[in-house]
This record gives sequence, structure tokens and C-alpha cells, in this order.
Amino acid sequence: MRILVVGGGGREHALIWQLARSPGVEKIFCAPGNGGIASLAECVPIGAADVNALLNFARKQQVDLTVVGPEAPLVDGIGDRFREANMLIFGPDSSGARIEGSKIWAKRFMEKYNIPSAAYKEFRDPRIALDYLEQANYPTVVKADGLASGKGVVVAESQTDAKRAVQEIMMDKVFGRAGDSIVIEDCLQGEELSLFAITDGDTFIMLPSAQDHKAAYEGDWGPNTGGMGAYSPAGIFTPELVKEAEDIIFMPVLNGLLQEGIRFQGVLFAGCMLTTAGLKVLEFNVRFGDPEAQVILPRLASPLLPLLLHAARGELRDLETPRWSPEAAICVVMASGGYPGNFETGKLILGLDSAETEKKAVVFHAGTAQKDNQIVTSGGRVLGVTAWDADLKTAQKRAYLLAETIKYEGAYFRRDIGHRALSR
Ligand code: AMP
Ligand code: GLY
Repeated sequence: MRILVVGGGGREHALIWQLARSPGVEKIFCAPGNGGIASLAECVPIGAADVNALLNFARKQQVDLTVVGPEAPLVDGIGDRFREANMLIFGPDSSGARIEGSKIWAKRFMEKYNIPSAAYKEFRDPRIALDYLEQANYPTVVKADGLASGKGVVVAESQTDAKRAVQEIMMDKVFGRAGDSIVIEDCLQGEELSLFAITDGDTFIMLPSAQDHKAAYEGDWGPNTGGMGAYSPAGIFTPELVKEAEDIIFMPVLNGLLQEGIRFQGVLFAGCMLTTAGLKVLEFNVRFGDPEAQVILPRLASPLLPLLLHAARGELRDLETPRWSPEAAICVVMASGGYPGNFETGKLILGLDSAETEKKAVVFHAGTAQKDNQIVTSGGRVLGVTAWDADLKTAQKRAYLLAETIKYEGAYFRRDIGHRALSR
């Protein structure tokens, strides 16, 4: 089979790393890819948002299956376009991608189908939002309706912070039209969990759980990032909670989507808070998590291709149950100094060759590029140093030893990835 993977981050590297091991995969293209993906796939210089160019490329290259990494092309309708052209694609149509693309749509949907989530109000007029904040309880959460590269959510500790968020999102339009309307919702307390289900619209298969570390600094402090590290499995996700997640989240969501006329084919990611009142959904995403994919996918002991293929074909029912390694996996994200604020790129990365020989470990590339046969930094999150072992403690130790051997100017990583699970 000829596969096209759309995207170029650590998540896509992890997908390709697994796909490359799947029997029946003959050739992998990645658009646009990165410095590390280039060793496993042919990287093509087409941006992940360029749906027309991707469709033309897939046709011309006789691609059998396209796998979409990031959300933006899905919200923009890459799924619709490929399906109209009778091209197999893993990822929902734009109608299904709205569950991530519009927070208001998602909140209304959750309300309609009784999916547990925080109480909320929606606003189109900033003056009314500002008025409302006068009498809200704090902390409160302000969310831009549309896609904002993971930066459109502000957990505001005070009225001043919340009003500043409304000003920036709705009036200064820091995220453009994504901030035309907002959601203000109750702040939930508890521990966050990332839950994933692969689905063909009817049937779903849950993947093992993972926990991300969103804050930039140790002790979960500082600005939110795309994710500074993750581990899988999440110890707190007991078999009882798996059942709860299936019964009160994934099943009703898929049934609700079908009632809305939406057959969701791809991966549905529920970012959840485990509260004292049970699981509640913070948000849905229509893609794998990053860096969650970098710890979940290495634990897959059966091939990845059939899983994606059966979902894309609407034949998940016929799939043999995937097998997962009981080992614990951890990913430490190495970032550019200054991320998630301003940072420099183009820094030479040393130590990758020896890291590649390490057993039960892999360094997934995110913001890297090849330049004159060397690998340089090209983004905020640069590498995802991943290791797996019999227990999380050992995996953590090995991941950090490996991260220490990789050098570039300004390298930054949190030293406490896994702390929640390890302190229990
Ligand atoms: P989202 O992009 O909606 O996942 O939000 C990003 C992050 O904001 C989440 O991972 C949570 O840490 C936090 N967050 C979002 N909604 C809430 C909420 N209702 N209560 C508490 N934290 C939240
Ligand atoms: N790591 C969280 C996300 O991918 O949105």
C-alpha cells in the first residue's frame, strides 16, 4: 500500500514509525514531514493546509490511504474532498471536525446529548461577555470558538485576567475570526486525562489512556503549551473508568453524531477532567494528541495499518482486536529555549545518531529540518524523547538519560514528566 501522512510534527513521526513496521506498507509519503520523518518516508513540500495540492498529489502518486495528523485540514474539509474523489482517508469530514473546530458547536452538542461537561455560556458581543464576568465565579475559563493552534483557552484566576482574555480574543482579534464568538465555562477541578477512540462512525475501539503535561514549567506551572511530555498508560484510568468513558462519552457521542447525520471516521480525542463527580469532557479533538501519540503508538503490539484502514473503510467491526504492550511509555519533549514565547531556530542538533541505537526508545522529531546533511531546530517543540519499559520509573529514567545526550543551543525540557503517576 502507498500511504500519505499529512503533517510534520512528533505525532506524525510516531504514526509513520508505526506504519513503516506494518506489513503491506510499500511506500510512505509525508507532507510536509520533518528532519526525522525523512528517514522513514518521502517528504514532499506540500503544506498540511493545502487541500487541493494534497488531493492532486495523492491522485498522481496513486496513494491508497491518506492519514491526516493535524486538525486544521480536517476542519477545512480534506475528508470531504478526498471522499468525494473516492480516495480513502483516515479523518472525519468537516461536519465531524466541527466538534473540534467550533467550541460552541461542541458545547451545544454535548448539552443536547447529555455528555458530561462544564456548564457554559456563549457570547457574540464582547460587551455582554464583559458584563457577565462582573458576576462570574473565579477561576473561570474563556475559550475562543474557533481553532487557535491550541492557544485559545484561558483559565482566568481573576476578573481582570478574564476581561483581558475577552479583550484579546474578541476585540483585539489575536486569533482572527476564531474569536468572533467565545464560550465562558466553569472551571473544573481534578486530574486531566487524554482518551482516544478510533471509530468508523458506528463502532469504536478505545486506545490506551495517556496524560499530557500542558504547562511549560516544572510543577505544572507557567504558560500552556502544546504539551511538554506524556506517559501511557495513565494509572488513574481504572477499568471502571474505561467503562464509564465508553458509556457516558464515546457511545453517546457517536450516536449523537449519527443522529446529526455525521459518520465520523478517524480518531476522536476526548480531553477529560476526572472530577469528584466523575469524568467530564473539557474538549474534543478530531486527531491524535501530540505528544500523546508518541507514547500510545509505541505500545501498539499489532500493526497500525489495519486499524486505520478498517476505520477509513467503515469496517472496524471486522478488525481483530489490537494488542497493546503492558509496558509503560514516556515522552519528554525537548523544546527551543523561550517556547511557548519567542525562540530562535536553525540550531544544530547533536547526539541523534547515538540515540538511534538505543533499544526500547525512539526520538521522535517535531520541529526539526535537514540542512546540509545535518539536523537543525525549526520549531518550538523540537524532539519527543520516548522510552518504554516494564514500569514508568525505569522508562522515565531511561528517557531522561537519553535526553541528556542530545544537545543544541537553548534546549529546554521539563525534568518532572510523569510526576503525577510516580508520586501516587
Ligand atoms: P482545551 O484546548 O479546551 O483542551 O483547553 C486547554 C486546557 O485548558 C485544558 O487541557 C485544560 O488544562 C484547561 N481547561 C479547558 N477547559 C477547562 C475547564 N472547564 N476547567 C478547567 N480547565 C480547563
Ligand atoms: N497534547 C494535547 C493535544 O494534542 O491537543
